[in-house]
Amino acid sequence: MALEGHEVDGFIHRFEPASAQSTALPVLLLLHGTGGDENDLIDLGHILAPGAALLSPRGKVLENGMPRFFRRLAEGVFDLEDLKLRTYELADFVEAASKIYAFDAQHVIAVGFSNGANIAASMLLLRPEVLTGAVLSHPMVPLVPETLPDLSGKSIFIGAGRFDPLVPASETEHLAALLQEAGGRVTMQWQNSGHVLRPEEVRAARSWLNNL
Ligand code: MLT
Repeated sequence: MALEGHEVDGFIHRFEPASAQSTALPVLLLLHGTGGDENDLIDLGHILAPGAALLSPRGKVLENGMPRFFRRLAEGVFDLEDLKLRTYELADFVEAASKIYAFDAQHVIAVGFSNGANIAASMLLLRPEVLTGAVLSHPMVPLVPETLPDLSGKSIFIGAGRFDPLVPASETEHLAALLQEAGGRVTMQWQNSGHVLRPEEVRAARSWLNNL
């Protein structure tokens, strides 16, 4: 049974359990972009890993009424204290949800777009134990931790647009280098696009997930 509009740790969210045939698949943690909500990426989750369990929280921060996962001071300028706090809060939510919905907390892959990708990257850097991997669609460097985590064994897909007006290619490359330096296995997919999720990126992320 899919659950909608429930709160765990104050996060409004949706949870869809895995189909009976798909319990070995990872749980997808779906993280929407600015102005989205817990419904936004459900269809994407079904496309990326049909039958997989989906956990989709709504960001708790409101910017002019638009939900986000952490505060920003300006476009691309993050409130780092809030980002850290929200990252820990989201990681705790995933752990709490794994107990409530009885899914394997050791097998969670974040799928984040834009602001959702940024908090997913922040989780990899600050609370890596919560994720086995991530699909980061159009991410930035959320923060650079004083000490890099150990990301060995974690697989990360980064989708980026060559003409992204929000994320320069150098920033994407910086993030990829940071995650690789921490031991993560990073796969990059560049497209001739801006700050949007295009079908070719979805197809590439889907085949990357299938081959994990
Ligand atoms: C962010 O604030 O996380 C990035 O600027 C992406 C976005 O516009 O949400």
